[in-house]
Amino acid sequence: MTYAEVSAIGQEASDLSDRKRDFPLDQCRCHLETGPVVLVGSQWQETRNLMVMGWHMMLGFTPAHFGCLISPGNYSYRLIRESRECTINVPTRELADAVVGVGNSKGYEVDKFAAFGLTPEHGECVSAPTVAECYASFECRLADDSQIDRHELFIWEIVKAHVDPTVERPKTLHYRGNGRFMIAGEEIDRAADFRDEML
Ligand SMILES: Cc1cc2nc3c(=O)[nH]c(=O)nc-3n(C[C@H](O)[C@H](O)[C@H](O)COP(=O)(O)O)c2cc1C
Repeated sequence: MTYAEVSAIGQEASDLSDRKRDFPLDQCRCHLETGPVVLVGSQWQETRNLMVMGWHMMLGFTPAHFGCLISPGNYSYRLIRESRECTINVPTRELADAVVGVGNSKGYEVDKFAAFGLTPEHGECVSAPTVAECYASFECRLADDSQIDRHELFIWEIVKAHVDPTVERPKTLHYRGNGRFMIAGEEIDRAADFRDEML
């Protein structure tokens, strides 16, 4: 690379940096909450429910640990704490209306499956229902409850995964706050540049 090219890149980086402004901390979610929005299925005794969740992350490969925040204000919280199980279901763009409906309603007032045209299915390993319309569903058992009271953080082990392999580029919904979602789907392939152990 020539000196002129290196210096042009440096100038570009400095211009980009100049364009950044102080940003309200309580809005950081708009840029970091970019995992797919998921539907959490729960069941305790005869009662089942669904909630929307955006705050979650993978926590390990094997076992497949997964962490998420569930507020005690949600009806699902009690069902999930009692049963120590849930399902994580990944909706795509065509389910956006159902996602908004599930997020706007309370499980003690409506059967969200019936109200939003979603089909509950039996899990293989947990009693919580999966959602047939979602292309991917994960059955989870609580692996660690030590952070729930302090951070509302549930740490799960995914014990069974169901994924439709024909959905190649799922148009998942990614919440940006203020009622707006980004849609995923575009893909770039840099596998050839990756070290083997990073793939
Ligand atoms: C896009 C979106 C993301 C949400 N993410 C979370 C979340 O990560 N954790 C949480 O506790 N609630 C979250 N909520 C709120 C619950 O989904 C909402 O309160 C829901 O109605 C709870 O249902 P329930 O009271 O029947 O359990 C989110 C809502 C929306 C619309």
